Amino acid sequence: MAAANGVTAFNDVNEFIGFNPVMPATAVTAVMPLPDVKNLMALVDLTAVTARRSFMAVIPFVSSKGGAGKSTSALILATQLAARGSKVTVLDCDQNQHCAEWYAEAKNKSVAVVGDITYKTVVEEIEKAHQVSDVVIVDLQGSQNMTASRAISRATMVLIPLGATHLDAKEATKSVGLVQDEEVVLRRAVPYRAFFTKCRPKPTIEERKIKDNLLGLGVPMLQTRLLSRVAYENLFSYAVSLSDYADQGVGVSGVEEAIRNADEFVDDVVAALNDLDGDARAAA
Ligand SMILES: Nc1ncnc2c1ncn2[C@@H]1O[C@H](COP(=O)(O)OP(=O)(O)O)[C@@H](O)[C@H]1O
Ligand SMILES: [Mg+2]
Repeated sequence: MAAANGVTAFNDVNEFIGFNPVMPATAVTAVMPLPDVKNLMALVDLTAVTARRSFMAVIPFVSSKGGAGKSTSALILATQLAARGSKVTVLDCDQNQHCAEWYAEAKNKSVAVVGDITYKTVVEEIEKAHQVSDVVIVDLQGSQNMTASRAISRATMVLIPLGATHLDAKEATKSVGLVQDEEVVLRRAVPYRAFFTKCRPKPTIEERKIKDNLLGLGVPMLQTRLLSRVAYENLFSYAVSLSDYADQGVGVSGVEEAIRNADEFVDDVVAALNDLDGDARAAA
């Protein structure tokens, strides 16, 4: 834990997200008058739930650009984490309600999706979901808005998807700016990672240039690139997760490769979360 300008910065994922995201351990005892057996039991319960979990995180997907791949990559992360045994809740903050509709139609409800989240309810819903889930994924609308700012304020780590195009790169730097604006407001570092999605198997010259530029600007990037795949594109049309294609007999090409790519992506996200303690940005 680091203290800057009198504000405590919870940079370590276990420390920061061990309890309610807005309620560090010390605050729990502060707001629960002791001795009160009922409150003490509530605290014990919460500790037991926390110990059971391998890791916990609040992960908003942020991009000021519609079509960048937020909902698709959010759903990929959510469902693949669920396949590994994590309890995952997705909060759908986009007026289009793609994730909420996916959930309504999905036969296999391996993750929970809560829809109709607004800037007024997003913080409360993150906290509610955090009580019952290991991972809370926030799918945001493609614009810079108050819902995004509020979700960023509760983030363990923000993920910023971008395609390998000049316009996507410009929008990604705007999203980084949004995170940095929040850091100023919060007076603490907000860890984030950008990542490429909808990529060709082999990086194009443009993609390599964009990557070099972003790294040059100090933007941390996930190594794994999500490729452009029919299996990803069709998650919403069939209301499935990647493993459901086989389980429900939906014939789509390249599912095994898509699962491998998705799992590498999830490994990267988990590694980045585990790395937060040593995150150079967090130490700043
Ligand atoms: N990795 C991918 N491979 C193929 N299609 C993708 C991929 N990611 C997104 N898409 C497609 O791109 C479009 C926009 O993606 P979406 O996730 O809805 O973006 P956003 O939520 O940022 O608006 C959708 O038609 C989606 O199916
Ligand atoms: Mg979307």
